[in-house]
Amino acid sequence: MSLFVVTIDGPAASGKSTVARRVARQIGATFLDTGAMYRAVTWAAMQDGVDWNDQEQLAGVVERHAFAFEAADDAMLVCVDGIDITEKIRDPELTANVRYIASSGPLRAKLVEMQQALARRFGRVVTEGRDQGTVAFPDADAKFYLVADATERARRRKIDLEAQGVAADLDELRRTIEARDRSDEGRAVGPLRPAADSICVDTTRLTVEDVVQCLLGHINAGQNANSKMQK
Ligand code: DC
Repeated sequence: MSLFVVTIDGPAASGKSTVARRVARQIGATFLDTGAMYRAVTWAAMQDGVDWNDQEQLAGVVERHAFAFEAADDAMLVCVDGIDITEKIRDPELTANVRYIASSGPLRAKLVEMQQALARRFGRVVTEGRDQGTVAFPDADAKFYLVADATERARRRKIDLEAQGVAADLDELRRTIEARDRSDEGRAVGPLRPAADSICVDTTRLTVEDVVQCLLGHINAGQNANSKMQK
């Protein structure tokens, strides 16, 4: 089966998940939330009580547990050892620990393999993360890089949290987001950066619908150009 892959990378809270979910629905593709995969491994590592600075213990987490990622409507269901942890992986303490998993070379290699296997299984995917266009799918059919000003990203996160009944301080959220940007951009393996052939979209002043339409326009234009070349 031929693969059709759209990658959406970018910093924390730049709107990737919301946009990726909607674009996937529009083009009949499966949405891959690769951040959820890093979060699942972090959850398992926390259950094991690993020493975050012990690289061997960290690398062993994927050997000790069974990870399952399933497409469910617009979401990705995440199970570890048969336990559904889809909700649990959004916890702030866990979010702060993901950086240890995300900076481990062996774990990243394993997760990239799992992402490629999921793409082969589903055939048509919209995958979002930090390294999807650069490392996991360098030959993707369309690559996007979403950015937004940190204050705007904090404002969006605050609205999301408040919708869940969680009060949050805007400055504190912005500081946390900026710290994650530094950690994502600064790691030696799979750092956050745009692929040279990606289309960069600044979402600061755009609505979700604007961004979705912009991406769909590029995806359709790419497909039309491709079908003309094949004629
Ligand atoms: O998108 P998110 O906030 O759920 O991602 C959580 C963390 O996982 C993020 O801070 C960095 C890491 N991550 C990564 O290193 N590579 C990816 N492809 C996706 C996420």
